[in-house]
Amino acid sequence: YRNLRIAVLGGGSVGSQVADQLLRHGDELGSRIGAGLELVGVAVRDVDAPRDTEIPRELLTADAESLILGSDIVVELMGGIEPARTLILQALNSGADVVTANKALLATHGPELFEAAEQVGAQLYYEAAVGGAIPIIRPLRDSLAGDRVERILGIVNGTTNFILDRMDRHGESMEEALATATELGYAEADPTADIEGFDAAQKAALLASLAFHTRIPLDEVHREGITQVTLDDVRAARKAGYVVKLLAICERIVDAAASVDGVSARVYPALVPLDHPLAAVHGANNAIFVEAEAAGPLMFYGAGAGGIQTASAVLGDVVSAARRHVVGGPGVAESTNADLTVLPISAVTTRY
Ligand code: NDP
Ligand code: HSE
Repeated sequence: YRNLRIAVLGGGSVGSQVADQLLRHGDELGSRIGAGLELVGVAVRDVDAPRDTEIPRELLTADAESLILGSDIVVELMGGIEPARTLILQALNSGADVVTANKALLATHGPELFEAAEQVGAQLYYEAAVGGAIPIIRPLRDSLAGDRVERILGIVNGTTNFILDRMDRHGESMEEALATATELGYAEADPTADIEGFDAAQKAALLASLAFHTRIPLDEVHREGITQVTLDDVRAARKAGYVVKLLAICERIVDAAASVDGVSARVYPALVPLDHPLAAVHGANNAIFVEAEAAGPLMFYGAGAGGIQTASAVLGDVVSAARRHVVGGPGVAESTNADLTVLPISAVTTRY
């Protein structure tokens, strides 16, 4: 039975929930994988700051570099470019697999990090970087790998959806709604990233790169945020039968004359008809439509932000990484369930 050492870098909205889940459910997760999942520490800036969940004081450290040493899986949830980039490189070079939710870093330094991982035979997982709890990275990378994605369209930022929804349905100001979104842990450390559309553009770059098997640089994503949208705009839109939503649209552009394919990726506030499914996406939820040649239209919906919801996606990646350490290979779905306890039928049926 192998013991896997897990270091969490960041103990904020997401990191504190990941630590809590590992402390409470690590044994159960580990028994499914056939490994011990040991949380060896949580790196933060201020070890004495209040946390959303109870993390034993002895697990908190301000020394992220030392925490990485000897870890099998490093979970980066600090956000921002530095020191996250350097720490991830250090973790990969020390042979650890890395899980991150950091779309800002991946959209700007992704190639460098993936190359570093490849060179040492490590894996870099990032399901939580787009769509919070919604599984979207694996479906695009794995499930749809044999299809041809034509278009991705949807709401990929929870904070701006929360704000626009509050403006629309409660008549709140943008400032009021942003303050609540920040309090609820949806917004980025610098919420300009949300309201100016940077976060959605980073996610669009990641989705488009994955879907179209290319690299879409962040500065090639057209970006408009929601700061110019007023309460009057939102009211006028509703009166006319629309709701304002910040959309991300990535599509394959086929130029038949030049017989070349291109990709267009853009983020902007749009008028969505009230009877469109996207109009019913409330709060910090996200909804992502993927249109593929053979599969046709697919819709991915759920919590797009929030500490505990995002922790779900992060932990899925941790499990994949852990399986890889136990079984080898890319770490997806090797479990056979052979060692599961069989529940008596009555125990199963009475649960529903
Ligand atoms: P927070 O700002 O809530 O937490 C960041 C944590 O990192 C804090 O605990 C902070 O320490 C620690 N930290 C930051 N810089 C340093 C440093 N230089 N050294 C040591 N510790 C540091 O961020 P979130 O939890 O909201 O987000 C984390 C990541 O997850 C980001 O990349 C974000 O984009 C992504 N994400 C967030 C989602 C959400 O809903 N919040 C959803 C999906 C992805 P301290 O607490 O002491 O200040
Ligand atoms: N700030 C981000 C959002 C977090 O609101 O969507 C999830 O990526």
